[in-house]
Amino acid sequence: MTQVTALDWKIENLKELNTNKVKIAHISDLHLSGKQDRRQLGYLDRLFAHFNSVGFDHLVISGDLSNSANPDDWRIVREKLEEHGLYHWQKCTIIAGNHDLINLEEEMRFYNALNPLLWARKKSFDRKLGEFCRFFYELITGEEEGSNLFPFVKVINYPSQRVAIVALNSVYPWYPADNPLGARGVISANQLRALAQKGVVDSLKDSFVIGLCHHAYKVYGTDSLIDQAFDWTMELKNREEFLRAMQAIQARVVLHGHFHRFQAYAVDALAFINGGSFRFSPQRYSELLIDQEGGFTQKFITLS
Ligand SMILES: [Fe+2]
Ligand SMILES: [Fe+2]
Repeated sequence: MTQVTALDWKIENLKELNTNKVKIAHISDLHLSGKQDRRQLGYLDRLFAHFNSVGFDHLVISGDLSNSANPDDWRIVREKLEEHGLYHWQKCTIIAGNHDLINLEEEMRFYNALNPLLWARKKSFDRKLGEFCRFFYELITGEEEGSNLFPFVKVINYPSQRVAIVALNSVYPWYPADNPLGARGVISANQLRALAQKGVVDSLKDSFVIGLCHHAYKVYGTDSLIDQAFDWTMELKNREEFLRAMQAIQARVVLHGHFHRFQAYAVDALAFINGGSFRFSPQRYSELLIDQEGGFTQKFITLS
């Protein structure tokens, strides 16, 4: 029997609105390294304060919060969001990146080529993903007892527009031959099946659908051999399948990170936005404005 991951749905109606457009801020790839990272934490304070002063409806963080899969870094992000009043299901969505789930050094140190125990590695990876989801449950299902796993769908009814965020996990375990840097991604068959379930498309049809995952659809994509080798270590392996799944649910925009560049590009008329890297450009973020008719505009903003 085919196992289908349950799709976690939550819907909320909001009455207050900052503008007649829904305003979404998007950042990615913070790569924090503990509390001694003071300069970076100062930048985070500055950015969150800016989001509050400008007035945003929602903040999306598309993974790689930590640089070394350390839950202490997740805690820093949680505390900062709490301090700025952003740690609420309807205010913020967070997903994991490869650097949140895989500590490359540790993987290599404990790897035994004669006894690779692939199932054990997969199991410990699933445990870490579960740990991440439970840690941020308030921003995922919003319920401690929820399934806390991907994919999850957030539907927020703003007075002017109904917005659905469909979040998928694209990180998969480190394997020495197939995923040597832990940076390749895949959207699991279970998640794709969950999205393809009867009724999902119907339930999303009146919403402005935003797809969300950590990995990029497009990396370099040039003919240079060096670029191609780099692409291979970073790529989303089943990106065409992912694209079709996003098209099937009529996503308008897909947000991602991972490849540390601020980019907006289209694939078959579907807009992809790469939130770049807060680590390397902490003053820069993406702003997405969705209007009542379902149109949208996007731009990257740099604080002066
Ligand atoms: Fe990253
Ligand atoms: Fe990444």
